[in-house]
Amino acid sequence: MAAEAVAVSIRKVGKRFGNVAALDDVSLDIRRGEFFSLLGPSGCGKTTLLRSIGGFEAPTEGDILIEGRSVLHLAPYERPTNMIFQHLALFPHLGVRENVGFGLRMKGADRAASARRVEEALRLVRLEDYGERRVDQLSGGQRQRVAMARALVNDPAVLLLDEPLGALDLQLRLQMQEELRRLQRQLGATFVFVTHDQGEAMAMSDRIAVMNAGRLQQVGTPAEIYERPANRFVATFVGHANMIEARLTGRAAEGLAEAEGPAGLRLRGIAPPHGATDGGVLAVLRYEKLRILPHGADGEGIGATVVEKTYMGSSLRFACRTGAGATMTADTPNAMPQRDIGEGDMVRLAWSPEDVVLLTD
Ligand SMILES: Nc1ncnc2c1ncn2[C@@H]1O[C@H](COP(=O)(O)OP(=O)(O)OP(=O)(O)O)[C@@H](O)[C@H]1O
Ligand SMILES: [Mg+2]
Repeated sequence: MAAEAVAVSIRKVGKRFGNVAALDDVSLDIRRGEFFSLLGPSGCGKTTLLRSIGGFEAPTEGDILIEGRSVLHLAPYERPTNMIFQHLALFPHLGVRENVGFGLRMKGADRAASARRVEEALRLVRLEDYGERRVDQLSGGQRQRVAMARALVNDPAVLLLDEPLGALDLQLRLQMQEELRRLQRQLGATFVFVTHDQGEAMAMSDRIAVMNAGRLQQVGTPAEIYERPANRFVATFVGHANMIEARLTGRAAEGLAEAEGPAGLRLRGIAPPHGATDGGVLAVLRYEKLRILPHGADGEGIGATVVEKTYMGSSLRFACRTGAGATMTADTPNAMPQRDIGEGDMVRLAWSPEDVVLLTD
């Protein structure tokens, strides 16, 4: 990545709290103008990394550069960043306008100029008619937008958002996801967004960093993370997949490899990027890439019996047992012909080698 395209550069950052390595050798570059998400389970270090960028936490190792300059010696307010904290820190008894303008007042900014910026920030989050309202008279989503306006009023180059939508109900959350994405595009600012919700990360991000136990697992576009998980953790954490322990038996054409699963199940899939052509691999096949066909459909695939059918509204989930005794799960749209398949029915299961990812890690 060209240096001038990088907004935030995390270089071999480590952070220890006593015995806990909250961050362990994390390196990544966040592009200018990018919507970048940190995704991972509770306790994996997302907040610690975000707080380190914002200056609320000092790394024990490594360096953090913003716009090409190390910021480790800078206090939070000296950095070109603004942070929306995991737990909102609004003043409930004050009005919306006072909350948004609080930082500017503390800095002693010019009154008239501050007032203009506050109005502009309120317009951006579509709260221009709420300036007089007290924060404790607002809905959850409106409060989130006040927090957003308060961060935006300083015109930060990099906005750090720690699970800003975590406390909202699903409908409001989906609506705020769109609003945030719109805001980010409109401002052209760099957003670093923390979430433990993979759907949210997928829907909003240009790129995602998946973390686990303080370590970076994979950085990529939503499609790269989903279609080409780098390891077992990413494959399990993002989406639902059949995981089949297998042994590599050889290479095939076009980046594919052959593997043998339990009970002689022959698999072809995308070869692991490097290393041996024999040994253990994990074959990953997403539920929705496994096709389930009514018994008697053309001879494609392998025979199986439906063990369990789960109704999920827009989709159906079929857990099946193959003739050789392996369990495989398929998700299909809730439509014909799969809708008529029931528990106990004989079916055929089919898939494409391009949808099987073979992993060694
Ligand atoms: N101030 C602290 N003192 C001691 N340990 C801490 C401190 N802050 C965080 N930790 C530990 O560091 C690890 C990472 O915490 P962090 O808050 O970064 O996780 P997170 O990914 O944001 O989790 P969540 O999704 O629950 O918010 C955890 O094991 C946590 O207990
Ligand atoms: Mg957190």
